[in-house]
Amino acid sequence: MSLHIEYIEKILSDENKLRMDFNIPKRYSTVSISDIPSMQFDDLKEKDLYIFGSAGTGKTHLAVSIIKEYIKNSQLSCMFVTIDELMILFRDIYNNKHGVSEAALFRKFNEEIRVLVIDDIGSSRLTDWGMSTLNSVVNSRYNNCLTTIWTSNMAPDLLYDYVGDRLASRILNNSKHIHLGGKDKRKAYKDKYIK
Ligand SMILES: Nc1ncnc2c1ncn2[C@@H]1O[C@H](COP(=O)(O)OP(=O)(O)OP(=O)(O)O)[C@@H](O)[C@H]1O
Ligand SMILES: [Mg+2]
Repeated sequence: MSLHIEYIEKILSDENKLRMDFNIPKRYSTVSISDIPSMQFDDLKEKDLYIFGSAGTGKTHLAVSIIKEYIKNSQLSCMFVTIDELMILFRDIYNNKHGVSEAALFRKFNEEIRVLVIDDIGSSRLTDWGMSTLNSVVNSRYNNCLTTIWTSNMAPDLLYDYVGDRLASRILNNSKHIHLGGKDKRKAYKDKYIK
């Protein structure tokens, strides 16, 4: 689940290396915005997005396809992380596990990664430490006008209960909300092939 040490070194060192794989999960390596005809990149670019809906409705698929458009059409540094990966990364660096400074990691996420997907916010409860770490990232990204794309199973009103008012307010009040409805696409696949 956690990011590899080589990847941590990459994201802390060289922007060009960062552009090589962007931490996009293998399952989504071939996704494209053209898979979702109702979505146009021009309507979504340079905006923070909060993509929400129930399991399997295509939130991660959409978020990855948007970040891939940025990669294709710009020189901006981009990255995909799940909320769990992000927390583990900060925790490991905080515990001095990888010999890199916390300040360098904050600089990366708070100032340098121009387009960041944070997948699955609300999927696990954050500790106070996790909450304050995420607050720092969200606040600084907001101040520095960096783009953040969120995915969540939680409708916006439920996010307040889950991550608290301060964090939910920063995530939601600055973003375009996209609700994905419909059926669980994984289930459709299962129904078709597993009788
Ligand atoms: N528009 C699409 N075209 C083709 N495949 C899609 C599309 N949207 C989603 N899928 C596929 O359906 C599966 C479920 O989508 P995805 O993982 O994005 O759901 P999710 O909403 O992120 O679910 P969860 O809440 O469980 O994380 C994935 O294999 C994904 O690639
Ligand atoms: Mg997902």
